[in-house]
Amino acid sequence: MEIKVNNTFFTGKFLLYLPSVDSTNNYAKNYIAKSSPIDGTVILADEQFAGRGQSGNIWLSEAGKNLTFSIIYQTSFLLATEQFYLNMAVSLGISAALASILQPDSDLSVKIKWPNDIYVLNKKIAGILIENTISGIHLKHSVIGIGLNVNQELFQDGIKATSLQNVKKQNQDRNTVLNKLLESVEKYFLLLKERKFERLKSEYIEYLFRYNIVSAYKKDEIVFSGKIIGIDVIGNLQMETENGLLQFGFKEISFVI
Ligand code: BTN
Repeated sequence: MEIKVNNTFFTGKFLLYLPSVDSTNNYAKNYIAKSSPIDGTVILADEQFAGRGQSGNIWLSEAGKNLTFSIIYQTSFLLATEQFYLNMAVSLGISAALASILQPDSDLSVKIKWPNDIYVLNKKIAGILIENTISGIHLKHSVIGIGLNVNQELFQDGIKATSLQNVKKQNQDRNTVLNKLLESVEKYFLLLKERKFERLKSEYIEYLFRYNIVSAYKKDEIVFSGKIIGIDVIGNLQMETENGLLQFGFKEISFVI
């Protein structure tokens, strides 16, 4: 894959391309442990043979068709307790980039399924795995792993996934998409650095899947209906239910889709 990153200030200016690797996040974490990487370093692979998703899941991606990469950011300006804002910034960067690619088709709206799955047409198009190193009360480095389905057309049975090719009905140039993603993620990362937390939160809520809509959720195998009404400072989901206002942490509930 021929790669050129030309529209960012620092993200991807140093880019390491690997034809095949276990996981770009693993590679990035080893890299941090062994050296002092330049802020905004990107590790990009055409194939991951042990790609990782959230909660110990695997991330499957057809070799050479999609984008699987990790950005290394220096994040010591953030308190560990503020890390959900980093999640918001990255989710927004990806969503805004995808919205600009999908723009002419107004029904292809991009949604963020809390906490950070990116959805189009009720199917997952991108996933994010952020892994932080912490020093004292601050973050130190963050590895931002991003998997975006670009030109893959077929997905495993039972997996509700889609790709840019599937929704736009057109093959996409991965280099162009990567440039848009890096530019947009950097833009939101810089807002984070300026501590524009309220702006990030309100934009995140605008993209939030099922915001203010009564829908079905599942907790401990019990299905209930609730309405997402906000996100608290540490990223818990705030929901109005028939048992009153409830808060849920990551993995406490699942969406019934
Ligand atoms: C998820 O939705 O569960 C998160 C998926 C994250 C996948 C990306 S692909 C690049 C980076 N390397 C990994 O091993 N995982 C992330």
